[in-house]
Amino acid sequence: MKDILTAPFMTEMIRTATNMYAHTWDERNGGNISLLLDEADVAEYLDVNAVVRTIPTGFEAPALDGKYFLVTGTGKYFKNVQYAPDVNLGLVRLTDKGATAELLWGFTDGGKFTSEFPAHMMSHAARLAVDSANRVVMHCHPANLLAMTYVHDLDERAFTRTLWQMCTECLVVFPDGVNVLPWMLCGTNEIGVATAEKMATARLVIWAQHGIYSAGKDLDETFGLIETAEKAAKIWMKIAHLPIKQTLTDDELHLLAEHFHVSPRAGYLA
Ligand code: 13P
Ligand code: ZN
Repeated sequence: MKDILTAPFMTEMIRTATNMYAHTWDERNGGNISLLLDEADVAEYLDVNAVVRTIPTGFEAPALDGKYFLVTGTGKYFKNVQYAPDVNLGLVRLTDKGATAELLWGFTDGGKFTSEFPAHMMSHAARLAVDSANRVVMHCHPANLLAMTYVHDLDERAFTRTLWQMCTECLVVFPDGVNVLPWMLCGTNEIGVATAEKMATARLVIWAQHGIYSAGKDLDETFGLIETAEKAAKIWMKIAHLPIKQTLTDDELHLLAEHFHVSPRAGYLA
C-alpha cells in the first residue's frame, strides 16, 4: 500500500487549500472543499474495507451511494491543512443512500466533515446529473464578491452581466453565469437543496452576505472559476462609484463568445 500523503489527489487538495488561504478567501475555518475520488485510486492507498468509524450525514443523496470523497473538516483552518492533513481532512465513502459516511482516513482528532456537507453532496449530485466529469465542489468567502452582494442587485442576470463586463475573459470562463441565493441559514439541508437547485444551471452560486460555491472537473478549474469571478468583483468594487465612461458592450461579448466557442447563458445578452 502506498503512502496516501503522496497521492496526487491529496497533494493537490493540500495545495489548493493552502492557496485559497493565501488568497484570503478562507479566514479562520471559513470555506470547505470536497473532491470526488475513484475507488481504484483510493484502493492504491487504503484498504477500502477498513472503516474507521461511521458518521450520520443527516440527509439522503442516493445518486452518491458508494462514492468516495476527500473533504475538509468542520471547524478546521485552511492555513493548517498543509501541516496536519490527517486532522483537517477526511476521506469518506457514502453508504445507506448517502445517509451514512464511512470514514476511511483522516479526522484523526475525532472530527468530522464540514458543516456544509449537505450543500457539497447535493451539489455534487446536481452537477453530476448535467456533467459526469464534475469532481469538485468548493466554498469560500472572497471579500469582493461578498461586498458586491451588499450593494449590487441580486438578480442573477444583472449580477452575471456586471461580472462579464468587468474583464474580457469572464464570459469565456463562466458563460453559464452566476446564480445567486438570498441570505439563508448556512450549514443546513435547506441551503443544501437550494444550492444544488442553482447548481443545475451554473457552476458558480453566490450566497448573499456569505460567500460563493463553485463546481468543476478538477481543483484547478474550480479554483479558477472563483478566482476569475472574484477578480471581476474586485474591479467592480473599484469602479462602481465612479462615473463610467465605457464598458464591454453586448456586441463585444457576442464577438468573444463566437471567437472562443462558448454559449452565453440564454437571454443574458441583448
Ligand atoms: P466548516 O468549518 O463547518 O467547514 O464551515 C465553514 C464555513 O464556511 C461555513 O459556511
Ligand atoms: Zn462559509
